[in-house]
Amino acid sequence: MERNEKMAESSSESSTSDNVVWHSGSVDRSTRERQLGQVAGTVWFTGLSGSGKSTVAVEVERQLAAAGRLCYRLDGDNLRHGLNGDLGFSEADRGENIRRTGEVCRLLVDAGIIVLASFVSPFRADRDQVRAMHRSASMPFFEVYVEVPLEVAESRDPKGLYRKARAGEIRGFTGIDQPYEMPESPELVVHTATCSVEESAAMVITLLEGQGILGKG
Ligand code: ADX
Repeated sequence: MERNEKMAESSSESSTSDNVVWHSGSVDRSTRERQLGQVAGTVWFTGLSGSGKSTVAVEVERQLAAAGRLCYRLDGDNLRHGLNGDLGFSEADRGENIRRTGEVCRLLVDAGIIVLASFVSPFRADRDQVRAMHRSASMPFFEVYVEVPLEVAESRDPKGLYRKARAGEIRGFTGIDQPYEMPESPELVVHTATCSVEESAAMVITLLEGQGILGKG
């Protein structure tokens, strides 16, 4: 099956408006990947607020860009300034946040780009849905669990949100009064309490190399 058809088929598996038909182009993902000299895919960073997801993603992006790769970072805090700015932090809103983001990942991967997505994404079912979206479109997907003890994330508290959550000023804060469901079989676990940002980023890059995402330089 052509990749364009796969995009169409897998999109209709998730949710599709009534009375619309997929309109394929004549340039597909493999053509764009050849033009860019890379294999596209999504690296999904999940973990507590303050775990270091975004910090590691920024470093991975820096190194990939320096090596001539085209990548794009999607960050929960940033997407909530626009595309997902209408969503809160209830379980349903977080699910919608992750679903929309998963769709954006697929568009960017279809464009031939290496996507680095950092979202708390505390619910396993939401992350699994994004994984399934990728699988049905034959797109690489790597879940990276940025693991850190709650006490460490809370002591970092870069945005002062844990303090507010403990004071009852924020409700439904992940790890405090909403759960974080650990990944059961992530492709990679990085421990940011014991590894430097550079070491953590190197582990991600090694994973991508091992999976053939970076191809030949
Ligand atoms: S997700 O759960 O829906 O994946 P997302 O990654 O987009 O969350 O946004 C998390 C960011 O929003 C955190 O880094 C934090 O800065 C901020 N935030 C505000 N309220 C909450 C909350 N109740 N739980 C977790 N993070 C929150």
